Formats: sequence, C-alpha cells, structure tokens
Amino acid sequence: MKVSIIGGGGLVGSSAGFALQCGGVVREIALIDVNQELALGQALDIMHGGPSTADQIISSGSYEHIPDSDVICITAGLRRKPDESRLDLINRNTDLFLGILDSVKSVGTKKDAIVFVVSNPVDILTYVAADRLGLPLKQVIGLGTQLDTIRFRSLIAQKLATPPTQTSALILGEHGDSMVPIWSSATVAGLSLEKYPGWTPNLANELFTRTKGSGAEVISRKGGAGFAVGIAIRDVIHSIALDQRRVLPVSSVQDGCYGIRKVALSVPTVVGRTGVVDRHEIDLWPKEMQGLRNSGNVLRQTLETVLSRVSKRPA
Ligand code: LAC
Repeated sequence: MKVSIIGGGGLVGSSAGFALQCGGVVREIALIDVNQELALGQALDIMHGGPSTADQIISSGSYEHIPDSDVICITAGLRRKPDESRLDLINRNTDLFLGILDSVKSVGTKKDAIVFVVSNPVDILTYVAADRLGLPLKQVIGLGTQLDTIRFRSLIAQKLATPPTQTSALILGEHGDSMVPIWSSATVAGLSLEKYPGWTPNLANELFTRTKGSGAEVISRKGGAGFAVGIAIRDVIHSIALDQRRVLPVSSVQDGCYGIRKVALSVPTVVGRTGVVDRHEIDLWPKEMQGLRNSGNVLRQTLETVLSRVSKRPA
C-alpha cells in the first residue's frame, strides 16, 4: 500500500509519516509539499530511521506520486490562531484546498484510491472533496472526531488513573465547537464509566470542555498538534490498509444515518480497504442525538456558504 501525504512537510503531515513508519504496515510513504525542500528533509529524516523500524520506501516530491497511491491523505492548509474556530479557517483554506483537489484530479488517481482529508475545517473540506473529485462517496473520508476521541480517552484516563487503551469513550459530530461527547457508552475495561470510583457529572463536564479545547490548548502551548493527530491518522490508514473494518468516528458524507443527510460529519463508521464499509446507528441518549443533529445543522449552514463560493469557481 502506498500512502501519499499532501502537506507532508508540515507538522501534521510529517508526524503522520513518522507514525506510519513506527506502525510498519504500509509499503510506501510519500511526502508531498509545495515546499519540496522541506518535504525532502522530512522524508530523509524519516528514512534514516528505517533500519530500526520497518522495510518501507520513504519518498518525497510532488503530484507525480498521486496516480499510483492507494491512500491520498491531505493535511495541507493554514493553521488557525489560538482564538479562531476551525470554521473561521474556511475562507482562508478553501481556495488552497480546491487547488489541491484540482491538481489531484488532473494527474488522476487509482480507481479504488481513498482520499483522506485532515485539513480544517475537516468536515466541510471532506464534503467539498467528495463533491469535487467525482470518486464514489465511500472513498472520501475525513479524520473527523477520531482525534477528539483519542484526546478525550487520554484525558479521562489521566484523571481517573485508568489504562488509556482500556478507557473507551466517543466523540461524534463536528470536529469543532459543536462536537458531541457520547457518555452513554463510555466504559473502563468493559465497566460503565458512570459507576467508576471518582466519577462525577462535574468531572465529566470538565473533561469534555478540556477535550473540546485541546486543539487550541496545544496550539497556544506549542504552535500546533502533531503527535496525536499523526497517531489518529495512522489509526484510520491502518484500518484501510489491513481492511480491519474497525469502527471509527470518522467523517464522511452522510445519507440518512441518525437522520442526517448532505453534510459530512462523524458517526460510528466501519473503515476498510474500500473506505466507508458501513455505518452503525447505535442508540444514543436523546440529548446526544440532539447534539449530533445540531452539529449537522451548524455544518450545513457553513457548507451552503462554501458551496455557493465553490460553484462560482471554474472546475
Ligand atoms: C486539532 C486540529 C488538527 O484539533 O484540528 O489539533
């Protein structure tokens, strides 16, 4: 499996490349960046670690890598300022993103390639990619709330001193301000989180608030997220590469799951080699359902504005 990372010179793209190297599953990792020198530097730095990690090809360059890539991961884009929401980025990032989509389209992709969007606002850009590229919708996936979900689990685990890998809780909806915490199914080692020693509703609120602000917190402390987002990207790419069919909270254009349509957001999604294999509409608490529908409405409003701008631009 060949994975191309557009934006591979940046913090998110290079962290994803490194995470994929440590995972040792994919065959080739190509870092693509407008700054080709930077992409080459990152690729060299990753390649130097090859003998102690995995037998992979680590390359860099430009769009010549796209036609034989199985996964095209787009991380390129401007980063928000600490006080900006991801949706605020839309005006600045849409044109850049459309340019990338046009370049991908003009060189052509494999028929079964998966386009994996990480650039923000990810749900909006996932929809735009699905709309613009002409690939089957199931082949366009956005990182969505997979990142928020692992952040959430890590913060719960830290607070309760539980093992992070056995601490399960989900975030669904928008990767942004309207994201929804799913407490109804949260567990530690299979035991209900609500019944866990030390658990209180106040703590729940505190942990969700910190999760929602984690992107901004990391931006203000170190300039931007890299490691966790790289790992979240790897979770999704490995599920594709190994056809694992893991159920992940990733974004895709919805067609009726939880009554949501014509907008991309995260619901429990079965991810395999063909992309979105299935979605699970598992019972949620009424306020969780409400939150999810609200996320859909918030995103739909932004999308209308973006789509009217996009349609004015020549394809
Ligand atoms: C974050 C960016 C990747 O949440 O959206 O850190």
